[in-house]
Amino acid sequence: MGTGSGIQAITAALKPEVERVVAVDINPEALKEAEERAVPAGVSEKIEFRLGDLFQAVGEERFDYILFNPPYLPSHPKEPRDEATRAWDGGPTGGEVIRRFLREAKEHLKPGGRILLVLSTRTGITLEEIAEDYEVEVLEGESLFFEKLLCLSLRRRQ
Ligand SMILES: C[S@@+](CC[C@H](N)C(=O)[O-])C[C@H]1O[C@@H](n2cnc3c(N)ncnc32)[C@H](O)[C@@H]1O
Repeated sequence: MGTGSGIQAITAALKPEVERVVAVDINPEALKEAEERAVPAGVSEKIEFRLGDLFQAVGEERFDYILFNPPYLPSHPKEPRDEATRAWDGGPTGGEVIRRFLREAKEHLKPGGRILLVLSTRTGITLEEIAEDYEVEVLEGESLFFEKLLCLSLRRRQ
C-alpha cells in the first residue's frame, strides 16, 4: 500500500516464495516510477500496479501480507493537499490516513495474514488504540530527533 517508488513491492517480488504482489498508490506518477523500476529488477510479471485511494482499487481481495509506510505528518494549514503532498501528508492531525487504513485493512487480510506498518509516535496513534482490533508486535524501533519510528506486525483479532 502506498507503493511510492516501489521499494517494498520490488523487494517482496524478488523473494522466490512470493508469488504475486499488488502495488497501490494514489499518485499516478509514483506508480509509473514503480512500474519502470520493476523492469530492470526483473519482477514486472509478478507485480500488478493499481491506482487508487487505499483499498478502492483492490475490490474484495485478501492478502497474506499488507505493507504500508504511510504518510503521517499533519497537513500544512495553508498548502492544498495534492498528489505530491500526499507522500507525507497524513491528514489534519497526521493520523487520518493511517486510521482509515487500519479500519479498511481488516477486510483484506487472509486468515493468519499480517500487516507490516511503519508508525511514528508523532501521529498520536497509540499501540493500545491499534490493539483494540489487532494483535500488535513491535518488530523494530528507532528513536530520531522528535519521534520514535516503529515497525509493527499486526494480526487481526479473531
Ligand atoms: C511515505 S510514502 C512511502 C513510499 C514508499 N512505500 C517508501 O516506503 O519509500 C507514502 C506513499 O503513500 C501514498 N499514499 C498516500 N495516501 C494514499 C492513499 N490514500 N492511498 C494510496 N496511497 C497513498 C503516497 O503517494 C506515497 O507514495
